[in-house]
Amino acid sequence: MKFTVKLGDLDKQRKTSLIVGVTEKGELSPSAKRLDKTSQNFISKLLKKGDFQGKIGSTLLLPSVPHIQADHILLAGCGETLTVNERDFRRIVSSSIKALSSSSASHAVSYLAELQMDGHDLAWRVKQTVEIFVDTLYCFQQYKSKKSTAPALKELTIAIADKKALSACEKALKQGIAIAENVSYTKNLANQPSNICTPSYMAEQAKKLAKEYKAISTKVLEEKDMRKLGMGAFLAVAKGSAQAPKLVCIEYKGTAKKQAPIALVGKGITFDTGGISLKPADAMVGMKYDMCGSATVLGTIKAAADLKLPIHIVGILALAENMPSGVATKPEDIVTTLSGQTVEILNTDAEGRLVLCDALTYCERYKPAVVIDIATLTGAVVVALGHHATGLLSNNDKLAKDLLHAGIQSHDRAWQLPLWEEYQEQLRSPFADMSNTGGRMGGTITAACFLSRFTKKFTWAHLDVAGTAAMMGGTDRYATGRPVPLLTQYLINQCEK
Ligand code: BES
Ligand code: MN
Ligand code: ZN
Repeated sequence: MKFTVKLGDLDKQRKTSLIVGVTEKGELSPSAKRLDKTSQNFISKLLKKGDFQGKIGSTLLLPSVPHIQADHILLAGCGETLTVNERDFRRIVSSSIKALSSSSASHAVSYLAELQMDGHDLAWRVKQTVEIFVDTLYCFQQYKSKKSTAPALKELTIAIADKKALSACEKALKQGIAIAENVSYTKNLANQPSNICTPSYMAEQAKKLAKEYKAISTKVLEEKDMRKLGMGAFLAVAKGSAQAPKLVCIEYKGTAKKQAPIALVGKGITFDTGGISLKPADAMVGMKYDMCGSATVLGTIKAAADLKLPIHIVGILALAENMPSGVATKPEDIVTTLSGQTVEILNTDAEGRLVLCDALTYCERYKPAVVIDIATLTGAVVVALGHHATGLLSNNDKLAKDLLHAGIQSHDRAWQLPLWEEYQEQLRSPFADMSNTGGRMGGTITAACFLSRFTKKFTWAHLDVAGTAAMMGGTDRYATGRPVPLLTQYLINQCEK
């Protein structure tokens, strides 16, 4: 796929399809107006006849428009006005791309960046257009014996009218490409079934990145290393599985300056059966996606490397498979974590926090400036926030604010939940320093409370992506690649400070 931004009117271009917006009231966007004039009112006549309603998400493909050299004009419905909000913009662009992808069009010019928005500039629309384009055409069919034919659509030119904004738009285009490509990379990892995507497979992917990028290096800790270190909680999760656990440390050094790194810690449960606290069959479907946190760490680091961001990042992947077996961890087993604190494992299905707590303690040796963990940690966050917002909890308001802001900028949004002391009580155990579950009430918060006991030494935020990283259950199951856009934007912002 190839993307460019170009200034001015590209109406005369041949072998292309031009995308323009029109409203329900028959209002034409500036480019639609221009094309209407050239085509001797072809568009306005057609609208007057009632051939196109202009509803958001609707499109009309017009081949061979009189006096127009392009192969097609695609009318994109913009709803009531030519000023749209984020959600509408995304729907308009996405439905246009979908419509063109089922035509013969191989090249398109989008004039949709000229739609007006409150709160976002032209560069934002350029960046989002690239991301939406790639997201809309994404398709994972590695395991289909009959592959559907790829759409002809391979090139997109985003037309802009404002000359002063050109360099900002070119930069936005580059960022959009890096984010879009690594969202796809992350989806590809997440969509692999767990018989392929094991902890070893994920470790191999991390090593592959070290081969591909000079600024990336990868180190893998094996089970015996973790035992020597004393990662009792991590190993308790892996104990029931035939798959060896791995702790991957992947480092990106984009600057020669000595800089305290930003640490990204990803939950990487390649399959979560629940262990001895076995999940019911229906709830188990989708649990191949329990490694999305780890996939996000790799995708974000790769995006930073593609953009050559002058920043230092450490990625930690906590990789294991959660299985029941004769040697698996049982409810009420007590383990000692790397931090020295003891945990009574009341529910083996609360395994994410067990691998993460040791990975977080391990992080200390990098003396990170901030630590962000990403985890499909609780079903409770899906109950609280549904599939639209990532749950955010933090021990530092500035970091929380920065992440919320990056989420708004990238339209990969998060919502903060409280991390008050009061909730900590729910983790009491009569036998160990704490239990690994806090009951049904405030499940996302008590999970974060558990993690907070291992992050006292640094500025830390937790992203619970159980509702946003993938859609699980039902026939429509897919990875979204979130929160790669949020985190990449956060890193970009850190570099621009
Ligand atoms: N991986 C799950 C969380 C999850 C649930 C992700 C649904 C995506 C969709 C996690 O390991 C888990 O099982 N959490 C338990 C915790 C409970 C036992 C305290 C949960 O949410 O039920
Ligand atoms: Mn679980
Ligand atoms: Zn899990």
